[in-house]
Amino acid sequence: MTYSASWRSPSNIALIKYWGKHGLQLPRNPSLSFTLSACNTEMRMEVTTSSSPSLEVRYEGTPKPSFEPKIKTLLEKVGDRFPWISQARIIIDSRNTFPHGAGIASSASAMSALALCLCDIDDQISGSPADLNKGWWQNVSEIARLGSGSACRSVYPGAAIWGYSTEIGESSDLYALPWQQHLADIYKEYRDTILIISAAEKSVSSTAGHQLMSGHPYADVRYAEAGRNLIRLTEAMAVDNAQDLFISIVESEALQLHALMMSGHSPFILIEPATISVIRHIWTFRRETGIPVCFTLDAGPNVHLLYPSKHESSVMSWVNETLRPFCVDGRYIVDHVGEGPEKIS
Ligand code: PMV
Repeated sequence: MTYSASWRSPSNIALIKYWGKHGLQLPRNPSLSFTLSACNTEMRMEVTTSSSPSLEVRYEGTPKPSFEPKIKTLLEKVGDRFPWISQARIIIDSRNTFPHGAGIASSASAMSALALCLCDIDDQISGSPADLNKGWWQNVSEIARLGSGSACRSVYPGAAIWGYSTEIGESSDLYALPWQQHLADIYKEYRDTILIISAAEKSVSSTAGHQLMSGHPYADVRYAEAGRNLIRLTEAMAVDNAQDLFISIVESEALQLHALMMSGHSPFILIEPATISVIRHIWTFRRETGIPVCFTLDAGPNVHLLYPSKHESSVMSWVNETLRPFCVDGRYIVDHVGEGPEKIS
């Protein structure tokens, strides 16, 4: 028998950062992210029952052995949930809609797409038509987490929270919760223009970065601060008139992430001089125009410019005039808060 599933799944950008983990990809603090739209992975999985199991990983139709180890690791981790994996020929083909080599991590979109394909095929094999209810999505989120922590937040539209917080009912370290329903309208269509400051491979992977949080002198203070910031941010995002608070928390979280990298026992720096120049321009532009544009940073030098959709044309004119010269080959990606994964027929 042959089964197949195809899904498109987006990347996400954390506003409250997950940095530090333990056990089987469990977070040291809760995090909150916007789900993106333009940056996504499309994946097709084909599973044929076979007594000689195998895995073939392709990217845009061409064999891609370098992607295999991460996928194999996830398949091994979920072998007890999906016993058919050990008796199947599996072919996975994917493509990313965001440009290759733009320094944009694809693990969140790729691992969530993989989790979706696995759950979809499992439903087909078990003969039970998928009822895509809350439990189904939680299960997908949990499997995505095993592939890459932040991937568990990509499965919901709008925004997601991952990690236990005493103040957020149902929150869990195992899977993310949908958060769009708690957002004021302004945040449901926020824009994210991603300025590509460098497309080079990161000098320190996020796996290594998470590890450096064990024994980090500020670890405990940071985890407590992230927990507090999460609650303050959820309160700020529930209304449309607390944008100053939104901005101060989001920018502080971004800078704290990089401050942690710079202040551990094996310090490292992922931002570039241009990252700092861009941040200074953002602060000047915001002060001079009153437009509530702010930034966040991933574990890298690229700058995510976040702003309400109604300011898109003024922000983009300024980006083209002032910020584009700081981008490698003038590159940026225009993205926005998106609708979550989609099954492709
Ligand atoms: O999911 P990972 O292991 O790639 O870690 C992601 C870490 C950050 O992107 C820096 C923060 C986050 O919460 O997404």
